[in-house]
Amino acid sequence: MSVEFNHTIIPCHDREESARFFARILGLQVGEPTEPFLPVDTANGVTLDFATVGGDIPTLHFAFLVSEAEFDGILARLVEEQIPIQADPHGRHLGRINRNDGGRGVYFREPSGHALEALTRPYGSHPESELNGVTEEVPGAAVRPSVR
Ligand SMILES: [Fe+2]
Repeated sequence: MSVEFNHTIIPCHDREESARFFARILGLQVGEPTEPFLPVDTANGVTLDFATVGGDIPTLHFAFLVSEAEFDGILARLVEEQIPIQADPHGRHLGRINRNDGGRGVYFREPSGHALEALTRPYGSHPESELNGVTEEVPGAAVRPSVR
C-alpha cells in the first residue's frame, strides 16, 4: 500500500496566529508561505497548510503522536502559557492528562477553536494497560475555557 497522508488545509481566523501556536506548542517550525497558505510540517512528512478564512470555522480535531520527552515540553508550554487542558475530549477531566495505553495524552484548543491532542501512544496500542482510564492532575494547569 503506497497511500500516505501528505497535506491538508486548516481553516483559521488568522493563519499567522494559528500556525505559530501549533508550531510553538508542539515544537515545530513555521515554513515559508505558499500563498494563500502558511505551512507547518510534521515529522512524518505531513504539511499542515494554514489558511485565513472568513465566517464560521467548524471545529476540527488534530492529534499528534509525540515522544515522552516531547510531551514533557508540550505540557510545560501549555502550563506556562496557561492554555486550558483536559484529559478527555468531553471536558470531564479539566486540568488533567490521561494515561491511556500506558502513555500520556492531553487535549487543548488552538486560537481558531480547533481541538488538538498530543499523545505518546496510539489509541488501543496497549489495551491491557492498567493505566487505561486513569487521569493525573497537572500542577499549575489552567482549567477555564480559553477566552481566545
Ligand atoms: Fe483523538
